[in-house]
Amino acid sequence: PTGELRDALDRPLRDLRISVTDRCNFRCGYCMPKEIFDKDYTFLPQSSLLSFEEIRRVASIFVAHGVRKIRLTGGEPLLRRHLEHLVEMLAALRTDNGEALDLTLTTNGSLLARKAQALRDAGLQRITVSLDALDDATFRRMNDADFPVADVLRGIEAAERVGLAPIKVNMVVKRGTNDDQIVPMARHFKGTGVVLRFIEYMDVGATNGWRMDEVLASARVVERLDAEFGLEPLDAAASGETAERWRYRDGGGEVGVISSVTQAFCHSCNRARLSTEGKLFLCLFASRGHDLRALLRGGASDAEIAGAVGLIWAGRNDRYSALRGERPAVADRGERRVEMHYIGG
Ligand code: GTP
Ligand code: 5AD
Ligand code: SF4
Ligand code: SF4
Repeated sequence: PTGELRDALDRPLRDLRISVTDRCNFRCGYCMPKEIFDKDYTFLPQSSLLSFEEIRRVASIFVAHGVRKIRLTGGEPLLRRHLEHLVEMLAALRTDNGEALDLTLTTNGSLLARKAQALRDAGLQRITVSLDALDDATFRRMNDADFPVADVLRGIEAAERVGLAPIKVNMVVKRGTNDDQIVPMARHFKGTGVVLRFIEYMDVGATNGWRMDEVLASARVVERLDAEFGLEPLDAAASGETAERWRYRDGGGEVGVISSVTQAFCHSCNRARLSTEGKLFLCLFASRGHDLRALLRGGASDAEIAGAVGLIWAGRNDRYSALRGERPAVADRGERRVEMHYIGG
């Protein structure tokens, strides 16, 4: 049972985000606050992680179901050993029309200078790097691992050099923490071909102490950039995209805003998420996943797993961000939500 799938809200399945590790060498306060993710925190044991072969198998089943984009996430995906081998296996997958996938990865950039070439050689097409500030002190405070900006910038340069393109840079904006970095970041990447995207700080997980007053609405970000540089809107590149696109009027390239808090995009959400231990999550804000690893390791055939995935997707009615805006009490059912470092954003 493969072919076009639609969920309960008539949304197709196009995008699979695969988390390859729950570990990270950063401790960004909005994702893995140090007080909780300290030396006593227990990460997943090696035996519970899906192997590369198991990931490839799940991915091929999803591709048969209509997935066209695969993004590797973490934690920090480049911490997973020999990740380039997995990239090579996924780059070989083809859709039923014989097309390659849009294969990419979201990284904090810390290991990118070292790994860019191997990733490119393995068949990775493009890459997204998270960077929350250009100011070194602000960045070190936000990653809370005392990691310098210069090393991430070197990673981005290496990615450019080996031809991973287009490169996107994600900046999570926290009002009062790094909103003074919006214009400097824009100025730095303007005219370079790198697409900078500003992300509203989201209430993911249960540990980051999220508060609405620390969110800066994307509309304010666009206002500031427009006042400084002059912006005009661009059409969406693909349906179901997270980012709203803008371009500099002077031809300096494009920027994006991702406004999950003030302008939910659930109505077109075509993303499924596979956790490091093989659970299928239907929403970034879900509390529970569906255990595909049990099927993989329990001897199920590809057809059986495909059938299970089809049923799971058909029943999907998740739309957390939209509900939070409309009916917060219904959106928050009091269950502990999955953590960002575990599900990969
Ligand atoms: P592109 O394919 O390059 O457009 O990337 P993307 O925006 O789909 O993925 P990326 O990993 O760069 O995520 C950017 C931001 O959007 C991160 O903060 C993610 O957590 C957030 N994000 C991605 N998908 C979703 C989603 O389905 N819902 C919500 N609420 N946020 C999402
Ligand atoms: N709100 C918004 N974005 C977040 N990310 C991690 N935690 C949050 C949050 N609470 C971002 C990372 C990365 C992407 C996958 O998700 O910075 O760019
Ligand atoms: Fe690590 Fe990314 Fe989470 Fe920061 S946001 S702690 S870099 S996984
Ligand atoms: Fe999709 Fe859930 Fe994000 Fe809405 S909140 S866009 S349903 S992942």
